Amino acid sequence: MFITFEGGEGTGKSVQASLLKDFLISSGVDVVLTREPGGTTFAEEIRKILLTGEPEKISPLTEALMYLVARTDHWERKIKPALNAGKVVISDRFQDSSVVYQGLCKGVDMNVLNAVYSSITNNQMPDRTYLIDLEPEIGLARSLSRNNSETRFEKMDISFHRKVREGFLELSHKYADRYLVLDGSLSIPEIQELIRDDLSNFYQLR
Ligand code: TMP
Repeated sequence: MFITFEGGEGTGKSVQASLLKDFLISSGVDVVLTREPGGTTFAEEIRKILLTGEPEKISPLTEALMYLVARTDHWERKIKPALNAGKVVISDRFQDSSVVYQGLCKGVDMNVLNAVYSSITNNQMPDRTYLIDLEPEIGLARSLSRNNSETRFEKMDISFHRKVREGFLELSHKYADRYLVLDGSLSIPEIQELIRDDLSNFYQLR
């Protein structure tokens, strides 16, 4: 099973992904937790380029292609082998982030994004996507309060982050069969409980 977490800045995806991993391991499930951009040595190097520096340092198309380069390595070396070995893969962000950030928000041609993606993965989509939806003002404040140099996207103005939120909600309607939208203003344990309840529809857990 391939599970992804999506959402804007500071929504709490990473915490939820990590709690879910611990829970699944304690339930006897073989899990790989990973993230994008990143997940392999090479893709983590690309991550540094993409997430540091000034917002305008890379053009939208160059940026989109860089995410896809990182995704290719991540898919071929980590995600696909783990899925083939019967493991559950949890990825903190994946292709939907490219569709929202580079496609819907920065205007990169969706045909390019989709064509490259389908040649990387043979168009395999995540089985379940958890979208943590939160007002961007709250998420950005959280994200910027962390001691972190990966702030290239946080530096974009608030209207960009509002578009990101709308973009993910749009995808959640388009792919309603695989998306579950979670209210990011709930507490960490409350959100985790909703995710576990949802997953128990797929796995005999607890
Ligand atoms: P995060 O790991 O803190 O969520 O940061 C990743 C940043 O990269 C975030 O601002 C979203 C952005 N991003 C894209 O713009 N496109 C992508 O395809 C991915 C995976 C992330």
